[in-house]
Amino acid sequence: MHSASFHIAYNKSADIKEMSKEDQDLIHRARSLAPDAYAPYSGFHVASVALMKDGSYIHGTNQENASYPIGLCAERVMLAAISSIAPQLPIKTLCISYLSEKVPTDIPIAPCGICRQSLVEFESRFSDPIRLLLTGQTGEVYEFRSVTDLLPMAFKKNNLKK
Ligand code: THU
Repeated sequence: MHSASFHIAYNKSADIKEMSKEDQDLIHRARSLAPDAYAPYSGFHVASVALMKDGSYIHGTNQENASYPIGLCAERVMLAAISSIAPQLPIKTLCISYLSEKVPTDIPIAPCGICRQSLVEFESRFSDPIRLLLTGQTGEVYEFRSVTDLLPMAFKKNNLKK
């Protein structure tokens, strides 16, 4: 046996003014769309906004249900919309933000495991990595080069065939 490790590099930005105008626009969109989420049970409103390769935006918000397990995360609502509306169009940059009725919103969101797996699947449909920005309503923005960086050793389609 010998030890092995994964190293995940990402950037932190304390002030969005040091980011590009394109990134600032995307972040503002994600922050301002979060209140639109249907989250009456958790009070945790999430928005996931994709800047597509053609410059358009497609977004999703979380959709909860009185039958709790039926609820859908914002990221997967967004991916279903993209895959339906523009199935051939890659995502350039994705920004996820949230608004909570219960906890402070100055810490970047951490997408759940199921959404990480779904994002990796979508990314693998195209040759380009999906750049990822994570943030709250205020505070730092974390930038990842690819959604795959958030899911080391992901299970992918090449695990299913030779
Ligand atoms: N949620 C998302 O929509 N995305 C995430 O990345 C984390 C969690 C939703 C699911 C549920 O509606 C609420 O946030 C609380 O977990």
